[in-house]
Amino acid sequence: MNEVYAKLENCLKSVREKTDFVPEAALILGSGLGEYAEEIKVSASIEYKDIEGFPVSTVAGHKGRFVFGYVNQVPVVIMQGRVHYYEGYPMTDVVLPARLMGLMGAKTLFLTNAAGGVNKDFDPGDFMLIRDHISTFVPSPLLGTNIEELGPRFPDMSQVYSRRLQQIIKNAAKEEGIGLREGVYMQLTGPAYESPSEVSMCRILGADAVGMSTACEAVAARHMGMEVCGISCITNMACGILDQPLSHTEVQETADRVAPQFKRLITASITGFAGK
Ligand code: HPA
Repeated sequence: MNEVYAKLENCLKSVREKTDFVPEAALILGSGLGEYAEEIKVSASIEYKDIEGFPVSTVAGHKGRFVFGYVNQVPVVIMQGRVHYYEGYPMTDVVLPARLMGLMGAKTLFLTNAAGGVNKDFDPGDFMLIRDHISTFVPSPLLGTNIEELGPRFPDMSQVYSRRLQQIIKNAAKEEGIGLREGVYMQLTGPAYESPSEVSMCRILGADAVGMSTACEAVAARHMGMEVCGISCITNMACGILDQPLSHTEVQETADRVAPQFKRLITASITGFAGK
């Protein structure tokens, strides 16, 4: 059997020894947004370190566990903390958790992240609905032998971010009175923030926001047929737009400041997913 798939099956077995919870939606929480998991009706949780072979994050402020529970009747699995490519994991490990949640039964993957604003009309604290992504600058999680059990060798990526889910999220934002930008997310490897010229490059190539996650997970989830959506929290203007250096502290402070709105938007969106 394919090594990557064998590892995935092993992780699934390890999860199933701890809970038989079947989620409908999977939610990945980005930097500074992890607290959301504590607010839902929790049925079970599993620490990543207790799952055999599961990649565990090294980033300060990133928790590491799956939380299973309900957001207004919708059964969800939430990743409180994710691993990033810049931590040194192979891309197949970076996307293993997203795939695992798909194998647990989740039909929908909701991705969130902290991102730098590349579009000059954006402001720190804005939310951006991800309409599409550019993942070309990071290795594809699908490189290597195709995992036929998950999906095809050459998967279609014409609509990575489901239009149906985008509409639900837009409706949710409107109902909650929360402003929502829209745009293209570009994933780079990090961990250094971009140089001003790299940010110009992102803009010329059509990106509105830049970050170090998300697109790879979206590709892996689409490969296996999950319906995907995502929201970026614009925590800062990307480098070179303002005449000031960037810091992880700024990213965290903005994420903390807008977390209450972000949580409302996530809850209203997931509640909307159920009304299909
Ligand atoms: N660049 C890349 N990743 C980020 C940024 C940024 O400006 N802000 C938050 N994550």
